[in-house]
Amino acid sequence: MRAPVRILTGITTSGTPHLGNYAGAIRPAVAASRQPGTESFYFLADYHALIKVQDPARVQRSTLEIAATWLACGLDPDRVGFYRQSDIPEITELTWFLTCVAGKGLLNRAHAYKAAVDANTASSDDADAGVTAGLYMYPVLMAADILAFKAQKVPVGRDQVQHIEMARDFAARFNHTYGEHLVLPEAVIEEQVATLPGLDGRKMSKSYDNTIPLFAGPAELKRLVASIVTDSRAPGEAKDPDASHLFTLYRAFADETQAAAMHAALRGGLAWGEAKQALFELLDGQLAPLRERYEGLMAKPADIEATLQAGAAKARAIATPLLRELRAAVGLRPLTTPVIVHGEGSENVNASGKGATSRLPTFKQYRENDGRFYFKLVHADGRVLVQSEGHASPKDAGALIARLKADGAALVHDAGRVLRLADAVVGRLEESVELAEVLASLAVFAEAD
Ligand code: TRP
Repeated sequence: MRAPVRILTGITTSGTPHLGNYAGAIRPAVAASRQPGTESFYFLADYHALIKVQDPARVQRSTLEIAATWLACGLDPDRVGFYRQSDIPEITELTWFLTCVAGKGLLNRAHAYKAAVDANTASSDDADAGVTAGLYMYPVLMAADILAFKAQKVPVGRDQVQHIEMARDFAARFNHTYGEHLVLPEAVIEEQVATLPGLDGRKMSKSYDNTIPLFAGPAELKRLVASIVTDSRAPGEAKDPDASHLFTLYRAFADETQAAAMHAALRGGLAWGEAKQALFELLDGQLAPLRERYEGLMAKPADIEATLQAGAAKARAIATPLLRELRAAVGLRPLTTPVIVHGEGSENVNASGKGATSRLPTFKQYRENDGRFYFKLVHADGRVLVQSEGHASPKDAGALIARLKADGAALVHDAGRVLRLADAVVGRLEESVELAEVLASLAVFAEAD
C-alpha cells in the first residue's frame, strides 16, 4: 500500500460563513477529506486571525462559530486532524526558525503587505503606516503551519498560491542550510469550484455586502433569496438562464436533473418569483439539517473544545518529534551531544550558503525498482554507513528507523557485516565503515530525544 498523501489547510477564523464559503471551500474540502489514500489536517488559523482582529471576544466567538460550522457541514474529526493553531506551540517555534532563514526581500513582495504599502503610498502616508510586523510575517507563520506537519498538498484559493511558493522557498533554504528535514509543499488550486455570485451578481463577498449567511434562519433566507437581482422579464416571457446569477446559484446546489429542469423552465417563461421560491426550497432543504446540527454544536462549546483538544494531540504527535529534530539540526541541542565538525572548517562553513551538507546524520528513505522500501543511514559527512533490507511498506521501514533512533546502542553485527537489532535484521554495514561510527551517529538521535 502507498503511504497516504498528507493534505493540510488552514481556515481563517474571521467573519460569518456565507453560501459562497460553503460551496467554494467547505463543501469541497469535506468531500476531499473523505477520499481514500489521503490523510487530512484542517486547522483553525486563530494566530492569523490576531493580525486582523484585536477584539478578544470576537476572536473567541469566531473560533467557536467556524469550528461549529465545519463540524456541522460534515467534517469528521475522527477521520481528519481538526485542531486550533494556537494549541500547537511547535508552530510558533518553527516560525522563528523559518524567520531566521526567510529573505526579508521576499517578504517585501508578499501581496497583502504590498497592497498595504501601495495604499499608504497612494494616500501619501508613510509606506509602513499602520502595518504591523504581524501582517509582514504572515507568510512565515503560514509556512510554519504547513511545514510543521510535512504536508505535501495544500488546497488553497488562487490568492494564497504566493504563500505556498514562499513556504517552499523557506523550506528549501532551511534544508540547504541544515540538511533535508522539511518537505516542500505543493498548492492545490480548486479550479472547478465556482465562485458563487452574491445577491447583486458580483462575487459573493462580505466586502460587497451581498452575501447569504450559511446559517440564516428560514425567514431570513427567504427574504434574501427574494432580494436577488434579476432582469425585468415578465412571467411567461422566456428568460436566459445562462445570463442569470439566480440560475448560477440554483445550479450550485441542484443535481443535474434539477438544474436541467430549471434551465428549461426559465426558457419556457417561468416567473422570477417562482424561480426564487424554488431556489429557496432547494437551499432550505439542504441547509436545514446543517443548521440544526450547527445550533446543537453551538449550544455545547465544551464538546467542541474537547474535539479540538483531541485534534491537537493528534497533530502534535507529528509536530513534536519534528521540532525536536529541527532543534537539534539548528544546534539548539544538549551540550553533551558530540559536536560534529566536518569539511575543513567548523559547522559554520555553510553559513555562506555554499556546499551545504547536513550537520547531523540522517536517514534517507526511498523506494527501489523492486517495489520495496529501503533506507540508508548517512553520516554527517555524507558517507553511507548502513544500507537497509527491503521492506514491504514505508511504514515498516519507518518503524525500524524509529527503533534504531531509540535503541541504536543495542545494534550488533556478524562476520558477514549483517546488522541486527534484537530479532530484526537491519541491513548491511557498508564497506570500510566501523560499527562504532554507526553507534556514534545513532547516539545523536537518542540524545536529541
Ligand atoms: N491564509 C489562509 C487564508 O487566508 C489561511 C491559512 C493559514 C492557511 N495558514 C494556512 C491555508 C496554511 C493553508 C495552509 O485562506
